[in-house]
Amino acid sequence: MLTYNSSCENDTRSFAAEFASKLHGGDVVAFTGGMGMGKTVFVSGCADVLGIETHVSSPTFSIVNDYGGKFSVYHFDMYRVESWDSLYSTGFFDYLNENSILFIEWSENIDNVLPENTIYVDFSRGENENDRTITVHGGDGRW
Ligand SMILES: Nc1ncnc2c1ncn2[C@@H]1O[C@H](COP(=O)(O)OP(=O)(O)OP(=O)(O)O)[C@@H](O)[C@H]1O
Ligand SMILES: [Mg+2]
Repeated sequence: MLTYNSSCENDTRSFAAEFASKLHGGDVVAFTGGMGMGKTVFVSGCADVLGIETHVSSPTFSIVNDYGGKFSVYHFDMYRVESWDSLYSTGFFDYLNENSILFIEWSENIDNVLPENTIYVDFSRGENENDRTITVHGGDGRW
C-alpha cells in the first residue's frame, strides 16, 4: 500500500504520472472517495506517460471515453450506473482485455464485478481545502 499527501492539483498530477509508469495492459484502476476529489485530474496526470494524446475529460454523460495511446485506455464514470443492465450497456465487460487499461470513476457502484487484481486509488480530504490523501493498493502487490 502506498499513501501520498497531495496539497494541490499539480501534486496529484505528478503523483499520477509516477503511478502510471507502473501500469501495464490488463490493469483496472478503480477510484473511490466521492465528488470533486481529483479523480479526473489524476487520470489526466497519467495521460503523457501512457501516450494519450486525446484531451482527458470527465465521461459523465458519455460514460466511457476511449483514449487509445500505448495501450487501449478507457475512462469510465459509473456515477449513474446503478443496475446490471446499465453496467452491461456501458460495454465494461467488452473492454477488459490484456491490452487495455481501464480507469473507473465511482467504482463504488460496481465494486462487486471488479477483477481480483484491481488497483484501488482512494481519495480522502485533509485539513486544508486542497488537501487530498491518496491511497493506492492492490494490483498484485505492486503498491
Ligand atoms: N490536491 C488536489 N488534487 C486534485 N484536485 C484538486 C486538489 N485540490 C483541489 N483540487 C480541485 O478539485 C477539483 C477536482 O476535480 P475532478 O474533476 O478531478 O474531481 P473528480 O473526483 O473527478 O469529481 P467527480 O466525482 O465529479 O467526477 C478540481 O477543480 C481541482 O482543481
Ligand atoms: Mg471526474
